[in-house]
Amino acid sequence: MADITGKSALITGGASGLGEATTRRLHADGAFVTIADIQDEKGEALVAELGERAVFVKTDVTDEDAVKAAVAAAVEQAPLWATVNCAGTGWPQQIFHHKKGPHPMLPFETVLRINLFGTFNALRFSAEAMSQNEPDEEGERGVLVNTASVAAFDGQIGQAAYSASKGAIVGMTLPVARDLARYGIRNVTIAPGLFDTPLLGALPEEARESLGAQVPFPARLGRPSEYADLAAYIISQPVLNGETIRLDGAIRMAPK
Ligand SMILES: NC(=O)c1ccc[n+]([C@@H]2O[C@H](COP(=O)([O-])OP(=O)(O)OC[C@H]3O[C@@H](n4cnc5c(N)ncnc54)[C@H](O)[C@@H]3O)[C@@H](O)[C@H]2O)c1
Repeated sequence: MADITGKSALITGGASGLGEATTRRLHADGAFVTIADIQDEKGEALVAELGERAVFVKTDVTDEDAVKAAVAAAVEQAPLWATVNCAGTGWPQQIFHHKKGPHPMLPFETVLRINLFGTFNALRFSAEAMSQNEPDEEGERGVLVNTASVAAFDGQIGQAAYSASKGAIVGMTLPVARDLARYGIRNVTIAPGLFDTPLLGALPEEARESLGAQVPFPARLGRPSEYADLAAYIISQPVLNGETIRLDGAIRMAPK
C-alpha cells in the first residue's frame, strides 16, 4: 500500500464539501495539502485551521496558468503524489422548455469548462509534475482522482449540461490511465450519489431528508468524509486504475 505521508496532495475545490473533507483526510494522513479553489475566504480559513503542511492557492480551474501555479505550489511543498479533482458546478435547465425556449449555450459551456476542462487542466499539469517523481518500489509515481457523478449514468430532467460534463470525465478515465501507465501514474474516478455538502445544503432540511430516503441503503445522504475515505483508499491501492467507482448506496436516479 502506497503511503501519502510526507508527499504533496493537490485538491481542486478543496475548500468546500467533498474536496474539503478530502483535504482534511489527506492532511490527517500526513500529506502536504494544496487547496486550489476560487473561494479564498473558506480556503484561507481551512489552511489556518490545519496549520503546517497546508497552503491555499486561489485557483480558477478553467485558467491554465492558475492551475500550473497551483501545481507548482504543491511541488514546492513536497513531491506531488496525488491530485483529487473536486471543483465542480451545475446548471439545471431542460434542453428545451415551452416557457423558457432552448437551453442557452453559455451555461452549457460554463459547466463543461469548469467540470470537464478544469479536470483536464489539473490532470495534464499534475501528470507532468508526477512524471518527475522518483518511483516507489512498485514503480508508481502518483495518483489522479476525479469526481464524476451518478448523473453521468442516470442524468435527471434538467441535467443535460451537468451529465454531459460528468459523462465526459467517466469517458476519459480509461484513456488517461492508459496514457500515463508508462510513467506509473494511475487515474481513477469516483461517481458520487447524494452527498451532504453545501451543494445540497441550500435545500430545505425536509427536501434533503426526502432525497436521503430515496437511497436504498444506507437511506441517508452520504457524508463527505465517506467520499474522502474512498479517495484516500484509491491513493493507497496500487491496482485500482482506469475505473469509475459509484459511491451511492445503490441509488439509481429517477427521471426527476
Ligand atoms: N454533493 C453531491 O451530492 C455530489 C454528487 C455527485 C457529484 N458531486 C460532485 O462533487 C464535486 C464537489 O461538489 P460538492 O458537493 O463538494 O460541492 P461544493 O460546492 O461544496 O464544492 C465545490 C467546490 O468547487 C469550487 N469551484 C467551483 N468552481 C470552481 C472553479 N472554476 N475553480 C476552482 N474551484 C471551483 C467551489 O468554490 C467549491 O469550493 C463536484 O464536482 C460535484 O459535481 C457532488
